[in-house]
Amino acid sequence: MNAYQDQRVVVTGAGGGIGAALAQRFAAEGATVVVNDVDPARAAAVAAGIGPRAIPLPGDASQIVAEAREALGGTVDVYCANAGLASGGDAGADEGVWEAAWNVNVMAHVRAARLLLPDWLERGSGRFVSTVSAAGLLSMIGAAPYSVTKHGALAFAEWLSLTYRHRGVQVHAICPQGVRTDMLTAAGSAGALVLAPTAIEPEAVADTLFDGMEKGRFLILPHPEVADYYAVRATDPDRWLSGMNHLQQTWETR
Ligand SMILES: NC(=O)c1ccc[n+]([C@@H]2O[C@H](COP(=O)([O-])OP(=O)(O)OC[C@H]3O[C@@H](n4cnc5c(N)ncnc54)[C@H](O)[C@@H]3O)[C@@H](O)[C@H]2O)c1
Repeated sequence: MNAYQDQRVVVTGAGGGIGAALAQRFAAEGATVVVNDVDPARAAAVAAGIGPRAIPLPGDASQIVAEAREALGGTVDVYCANAGLASGGDAGADEGVWEAAWNVNVMAHVRAARLLLPDWLERGSGRFVSTVSAAGLLSMIGAAPYSVTKHGALAFAEWLSLTYRHRGVQVHAICPQGVRTDMLTAAGSAGALVLAPTAIEPEAVADTLFDGMEKGRFLILPHPEVADYYAVRATDPDRWLSGMNHLQQTWETR
């Protein structure tokens, strides 16, 4: 039997892009999927496209666990914390921009885990999938709130994994570079410089996740080269920072 047959899955921010691709893939594997999005029309459209295995659930990602659990008959097997804000700007970005990024990119994950863990630890199973970004391992030029909060999302996913892996909770952190979604378009000239040239389709992200889940991997890298950049950052931070600064200067002179 398929590993995901009749699994009860929640995907936040699933009204488009990577979240929609994850929801479609889980449903194709036989799961029942709650399709959450802050935009009701987007959630409804993706759920309708999937068919009877999908349940649309509009609302903010940080507040939907109880409703999602009820819609799924009392239990969530897989929770995909996917909704994210591509908050650009430098240190001078508005407090509101920093706060929104913190809330959606980090605290929505923490709030969901807080509600999911008691049931998962009692059952000895549960799966938390965090859509982070390569910006959580590396950084994104021109986007301080995004870079900082995606580091936070990765740190939280790592913490969940190291704390609960012996108790049946599996955690995966998806860290892609560019993916062809509305968010990439919204990333403007920095996105066009850094992300667009190697951008992949959202379905390729879902493929890499399913391969990584089968292999029991924490880090899901749809762009495998990210592992090399991450290694350089760890072993030679000044070389890595100089390379990133070179990108920054290229962007400034565009
Ligand atoms: N596109 C990329 O290049 C890229 C690269 C790395 C990581 N990511 C990450 O992937 C995730 C999905 O991004 P995407 O590219 O598919 O974006 P997208 O803009 O295509 O889709 C994001 C969806 O999330 C919804 N959303 C936003 N805030 C929400 C909230 N608070 N609650 C519920 N839904 C909300 C939006 O309405 C939208 O439908 C994000 O976490 C993003 O940071 C994207």
